[in-house]
Amino acid sequence: MRDSFDILLLPGDGIGPEVVNAARAVMDVAAEHFGVTLRYEERKIGGAAIREEGEPVSDETLEAAKNSDAVLLGAVGHPDFDRGPARPEAGLLKLRKHLGAFANLRPVAAIPALVSASPLKEEIVKGVDILIIRELTGGAYFGEKEEGEERASDLSLYTREEVERVARVAFEAAEGRSGRVTSVDKANVMATGRLWRKVVEDVAGEYPNVALDHVLVDAAAMHLVRNPGRFDVMLTENLFGDILSDEAAMLPGSMGMLPSASLGLPGTPGIFEPVHGSAPDIAGQGVANPYATILSAAMMFRHSLGRPDVAGAVARGVSVALEAGFRTPDLGGKQGTEQVTEAVCRWATAGEGVT
Ligand code: NAD
Ligand code: IPM
Ligand code: MN
Repeated sequence: MRDSFDILLLPGDGIGPEVVNAARAVMDVAAEHFGVTLRYEERKIGGAAIREEGEPVSDETLEAAKNSDAVLLGAVGHPDFDRGPARPEAGLLKLRKHLGAFANLRPVAAIPALVSASPLKEEIVKGVDILIIRELTGGAYFGEKEEGEERASDLSLYTREEVERVARVAFEAAEGRSGRVTSVDKANVMATGRLWRKVVEDVAGEYPNVALDHVLVDAAAMHLVRNPGRFDVMLTENLFGDILSDEAAMLPGSMGMLPSASLGLPGTPGIFEPVHGSAPDIAGQGVANPYATILSAAMMFRHSLGRPDVAGAVARGVSVALEAGFRTPDLGGKQGTEQVTEAVCRWATAGEGVT
């Protein structure tokens, strides 16, 4: 196992710097415990980069990302730029494309200590364990655009190859879980949906031990809140995955709980970021929930750095802190970002069974 890594930190906007600092503190403690050295470089992205560098992500930052072992990102987006010609979000999209990060893993697990924090009934949420796999570099996000005062269009294009490679990620993940993939599309209306379904069926032939079913995206949105337990691995395209993962965040109870990993071909650095945005409504107040970013750091140790031991320690710190009642206001708690982070740091390395 390697024991020294170069990490690029891109805190971004709003609560991004608050949650990235929190994750960095936990990463440092956990890494040190296992004799792992982390070298950090920090750069701007999003609105912060537009302000300082004139564009949402600079070529130097893209290169720094490519040369790193992994990227930890906070969030981008700020109301100041909602009408401007340059959008903070464009920086994140460019980074994903630059690193070829086509598979976005968004695990959604009901945490026993939090079932009462969910707006959904306990019996619906209990035991939920879904892995959303969202295609991340294709579809309407990246198709040709036309933007005028009278007409606008976003071309949604998928190729067989784009669907195949992300489908393989889903089937491989399912082999290590309960062996079920649900592919979500809009094949009853969209040509991309019909191609998606056909290619996913073809790939399924390579994985005889995995069961596949197809659900239309509108029905999937309904099943997610009526019977989320029916899903194990949920595979879907870029735009549907964006929408369904925010909906799924209500299963654990807050946007502040969902981590993500965006992965490309083996050997390319992954991007690790919370699913939530820059939350301008609470930025600067010290109350942002850092769990999603801390859990994204755990995914980084597992998926990009090959250190499941450090990942396990970080995840353990999170579960014990939650069980001990450390919660930010979005989870109905009273603690701030710092108190929660200190609790996770304390328990990340305290050994099993400490409560
Ligand atoms: P948001 O996720 O920022 O916030 C939605 C709601 O959830 C807000 O009430 C916010 O306070 C709350 N919330 C989100 N994260 C939280 C956390 N960690 N702790 C506590 N509460 C949290 O979504 P939005 O308000 O629609 O978007 C704000 C900006 O963020 C926009 O500019 C958007 O484009 C951007 N955005 C960025 C990303 C990203 O960088 N990956 C993701 C989503 C949205
Ligand atoms: C996400 C965000 C991004 C997306 C935005 C900020 C570009 O909402 O990561 O879920 O739509 O992919
Ligand atoms: Mn989103």
